[in-house]
Amino acid sequence: MNITIRLETPDDYRAVEELTREAFWDESTSGGRIVDEHLLTHNLRKHPAFIPELDTVAELEGNLAGHIIYSKGKIIDDGGGEHEALTFGPLAVLPKYQLRGVGRALLLHTIAEARRLGYRAIFLYGHPDYYPRMGFRRAADLGISTQEGKTYDAFMGIELYPGALDGITGRFHLPAPYNELTEKDAIAFDSSFPLKEPAPIAGIDLLLDRLDPAARAAVESLDVKFLAGMSAVSERRISALPGIDGRALDVICSFMREHGRAWGEGSSQKPGQALFDKVVLDCLDSEALSAFYCKLLGWNVGYRFDDGNCNIIIIASPDCNANIGFQRDPDYTPPVWPAEPETPQQMMHLDIAVPKELHHAWVRYAVSLGAKVAHPQYTDMGTVMLDPEGHPFCIDLMF
Ligand SMILES: CC(C)(COP(=O)(O)OP(=O)(O)OC[C@H]1O[C@@H](n2cnc3c(N)ncnc32)[C@H](O)[C@@H]1OP(=O)(O)O)[C@@H](O)C(=O)NCCC(=O)NCCS
Repeated sequence: MNITIRLETPDDYRAVEELTREAFWDESTSGGRIVDEHLLTHNLRKHPAFIPELDTVAELEGNLAGHIIYSKGKIIDDGGGEHEALTFGPLAVLPKYQLRGVGRALLLHTIAEARRLGYRAIFLYGHPDYYPRMGFRRAADLGISTQEGKTYDAFMGIELYPGALDGITGRFHLPAPYNELTEKDAIAFDSSFPLKEPAPIAGIDLLLDRLDPAARAAVESLDVKFLAGMSAVSERRISALPGIDGRALDVICSFMREHGRAWGEGSSQKPGQALFDKVVLDCLDSEALSAFYCKLLGWNVGYRFDDGNCNIIIIASPDCNANIGFQRDPDYTPPVWPAEPETPQQMMHLDIAVPKELHHAWVRYAVSLGAKVAHPQYTDMGTVMLDPEGHPFCIDLMF
């Protein structure tokens, strides 16, 4: 799939407004709202806050597929000082091209461009589980509230360079066109587009009927009237409600998908940075095996845990950057190496690396501690050994 990103030109204006109208049509009209996003785009382009250098379209299969428009807003800090910051929106992807990476491509491209142009930060109101995928955080976590002084998950921001907002807390003010939209103007503007039937109203009852009583009560407590309103509610917020468990979240997520709306954080999203902690080897005698590896590697016991059910000894490298655990398992059966059918299999193994010239000295040392040289050997790049409990490990040559 080839997404082309380029700046919008005046020749695109009408087609982009049509695209924007299509993108927001169902979401707005099924919630009983008049679509005004295409008018907003139209008005923003004529306003001094508009940033033509970031006014970007995406093409897919040679057709206009999406658009994003940026303008300048400002943070007014607690002392009354003003700091320029950007906002964007509407961000619109034509329904037939949605969920194919167009929105992401437009965002990632323009965020990088805004950074290159030296802007400080971007703030926006939007789907609270979508924009964090592109690096946005709750604006409240950046010390910024809405122009009314409110905070919620759907109001988000991103710093464009480290420390861009250091020492700045305050309210973000949108440029005037966002605050000047009226229903009357939206209806008048929309009448210049082909007549289109509103989507059927989709009330929140459709979702409530799918939930068990506890989850239903939880969603009811949000006071959301239309299904479209769920787009402003983050998975995090719903998860915190009593009565909501993993099953209820799955029901909400798949129900929203059935109704053409992506919702939730998505299982493919990495929730943060995980820390690799240790490899744990099962064994019959955790004391003896941990002592073997302490001597072999020159490491020390870092931690012993025994609650009657679980006995584990963790050894740590001298710089404490690596750990191995040894967990007692009375049913432990050593793997057979090399593997043979119908025998316990090796699942994983440890490699240690030693200087080439000391390789044989290391093998002898491991043997003196109770290890065995495995047979047969398949490579001269190292030696496969079996520790005192039969786990294969390799003494490899350092590159
Ligand atoms: C919301 C919108 C801009 C997203 O753009 P898109 O091109 O359809 O979506 P992408 O392909 O960029 O989606 C990237 C990922 O975000 C997920 N995602 C998309 N919309 C989401 C949403 N509203 N909430 C949570 N996740 C969402 C996708 O499932 C996808 O996940 P994956 O990487 O795990 O597969 C687009 O669907 C759209 O124009 N919708 C109608 C108008 C609108 O709501 N605009 C935004 C107003 S804030």
